[in-house]
Amino acid sequence: MQILQNKKIVLGITGGIAAYKTPELVRRLKDQGADVRVVMTEGAKAFITPLTLQAVSANSVSDSLLDTQAELAMGHIELAKWADLILIAPATADTIARISHGMANDLLTTICLATTAPIAIAPAMNQQMWHAQVTQENITRLSNRQVNIFGPGSGAQACGDIGLGRMLDVSELVELTCQFFSENITRHTQKEQQPDQQILIGQHWVITAGPTREAIDPVRYISNHSSGKMGYAIAEAALQAGAKVTLISGPVTISPPKNCDLIQVDSAQNMHKKALNYSKNATVFVACAAVADYRMANIAEQKIKKSADTMQLNLIKNPDIVADVAALTNKPFTVGFAAETQDIEHYALGKLQRKNLDMIAANNVAAPGQGFNSENNALTVFYADGKYEIPLASKQNVAQQLVSLIQQTYLKQVN
Ligand code: C5P
Repeated sequence: MQILQNKKIVLGITGGIAAYKTPELVRRLKDQGADVRVVMTEGAKAFITPLTLQAVSANSVSDSLLDTQAELAMGHIELAKWADLILIAPATADTIARISHGMANDLLTTICLATTAPIAIAPAMNQQMWHAQVTQENITRLSNRQVNIFGPGSGAQACGDIGLGRMLDVSELVELTCQFFSENITRHTQKEQQPDQQILIGQHWVITAGPTREAIDPVRYISNHSSGKMGYAIAEAALQAGAKVTLISGPVTISPPKNCDLIQVDSAQNMHKKALNYSKNATVFVACAAVADYRMANIAEQKIKKSADTMQLNLIKNPDIVADVAALTNKPFTVGFAAETQDIEHYALGKLQRKNLDMIAANNVAAPGQGFNSENNALTVFYADGKYEIPLASKQNVAQQLVSLIQQTYLKQVN
């Protein structure tokens, strides 16, 4: 069955090198039964001709807001009403900025403003432009407005850089479009990093994960709900990208990724000792563990007996592992996590400064469906000259995006 049967798609093409893939995209959408009408920006026409797209779409191509003849044929309001979906591929940083600010200074952005149809964009740009704070803010703004964000993918770019920013492959865009019509859900799908992109070869990452356990007596302890899933996913993503990984883990029930050096610890003090030891020659340290802030001043040698109705435990502060790693001479690029329930930015930035970190990934553990013990997470990442949103996704996907961001920021620092 043709999944896009009777679906009317306005394909907006903007001025990026990936525009050369759009005739194939039109053909594949039509193969699935879609009726496609192409709208091109001025920039798009520098990469591909309207005639080519007219031939493959079997419809006239629209490229001007102010052309009276074109407006007579099928004007911008008609196109906006006609569409079941507006798919913009490739979507340049400029077009994303204009749409996110509600501008209507060419035909495509005017249609976006005039339509009630859903919009999907397939970003395509240089990785630095993608990571730019303002682009990320624009993407977040669009995502919050239920615009579907298809991609971008990661890999080698036309300019020679490697990283996030490639337009997804035509087959992936067609698949996401089909999924969109069958599920009608808003999605933000940054493509996972390919395992063959060994961008971290030669790097040594030390990652803490899971909870710590602070003994009270021989049978009891203080701990927390950390599952270790986020830290283990980061270890897996760093391994896939070619790093040597030392994973220092508190007690968890999940299996470690293959090929990492797993160091199992229980208490914060043990984690502290191992972390300092392994971080001396590391390039990157990621503190994902939920370390207990306090431990018993004295662990009882024998099981504490039940007696009075109330009892008090005398606790003392644990060492701050990530702060001590960040204080090393030759410190690795140091990344902390901030699990917060309120005022996330304020607390995260405070920790970034106080602990002398290079980056901090903040998550809202009070939000439903993310954080502790969940399969999904969403992060707001802060670093010296930027802020980056990783929207809600599987912990594996979030980990891959975070690893890629750490790598970009680390490279900037060492170069
Ligand atoms: O201060 P807070 O516990 O909120 O800071 C969170 C960050 O600090 C996390 O990266 C966590 O792994 C790290 N941390 C640590 N040692 C501690 C407490 C927290 O490394 N004793």
